[in-house]
Amino acid sequence: SETDKGIYPYYMLKEVDEQPVVMHRLMERYFDEQGNVLIGKAILDEINAADRVYIIAAGTSYHAGLAGARLFEQWANKPTSVYISSEFAYEQPLLSEKPFFIFLSQSGETADSREVLQNINEAGYHSLTLTNVEKSTLWREATYALPLLAGPEIAVASTKAYVAQVTLESILAYALADNQDLNLMEELSNIAVAIQAIVDDKETFKNVADAMLVPASTHSAFYIGRGVDSTVALEAALKLKEISYVQAEGFAAGELKHGTLALIEEGTPVMALITQPKTAGLVRGNLSETTARGAHPYTIVSKSLAKEGDGYILPDVDPLLAPLVEVIPTQLLAYYTSLGRGLDVDRPRNLAKSVTVQ
Ligand code: G6P
Repeated sequence: SETDKGIYPYYMLKEVDEQPVVMHRLMERYFDEQGNVLIGKAILDEINAADRVYIIAAGTSYHAGLAGARLFEQWANKPTSVYISSEFAYEQPLLSEKPFFIFLSQSGETADSREVLQNINEAGYHSLTLTNVEKSTLWREATYALPLLAGPEIAVASTKAYVAQVTLESILAYALADNQDLNLMEELSNIAVAIQAIVDDKETFKNVADAMLVPASTHSAFYIGRGVDSTVALEAALKLKEISYVQAEGFAAGELKHGTLALIEEGTPVMALITQPKTAGLVRGNLSETTARGAHPYTIVSKSLAKEGDGYILPDVDPLLAPLVEVIPTQLLAYYTSLGRGLDVDRPRNLAKSVTVQ
């Protein structure tokens, strides 16, 4: 059944492997055969009429929001702000004149996000929830809701929900875009193929994790990237710390020299995400600053930007959709680090799958 681990030692690995299927499920649901988007006109009209989209979420869903905001701004030309629900709930920012809210939540039950939805409902604003759990609280209480169709996610560390959220955000942003030169349906099916190839390459990530992240001498690790890659760096670091307890930080590569560089020691792992043509050279420069201080570098790079000596080469995709591809190696690195350290991958200490208290 869907909630059976089957041949897998841990749910997380099963859920990582399911990601291509999840993408196909979303494509079948949200595109017709010609590649036109099937999303209710009422939803699109409301977003079109809004002067700003506010994305509200927590944890991994927040990171999916950060990646999606770029899609709304660059494809749909819609100003978009992303907020952590526990912040927005108690210190509401000054809102634009015609806001529209998008709630991202795997469970649909995160208490802080529910609090925000309650507040904005009282204020009379409209909203759309993207959630994996139909009939959940955020599903029921929002003006509109769309399912993520990822299937039950049981591992505490979220994986397929992130990919489903970014995919659905891309479909929404595309539906709102004036220019549809890109064939999104085709691009998403290429991405599903690319994800399949990465998850079929598990041995590679086990070996990298064993060499760089599993040794007890590794206390901290860093993910860096620029543009949308910096948002994936946040997610990659979260995944690593959640299940391996390695102190990990992800951030915009240009910020390294403003502080974090001081933490680099002999052998500190620094993983660079390089998928953005505009800034690839700059990220490489930032990475060199760390290797000059003894860091152990690992690069995850799009094919057209790859150089001799790079770590893992990703197929080229539309740069704004790169998170869907580059996040997969980071999920597998976290998984094999947890496994190699003998930890319970699915049930990390101190964490819950869904946080229903504020
Ligand atoms: C918990 C989970 C995370 C998740 C976050 C938000 O902290 O452990 O994996 O990202 O809640 O949950 P949601 O269900 O709202 O996406």
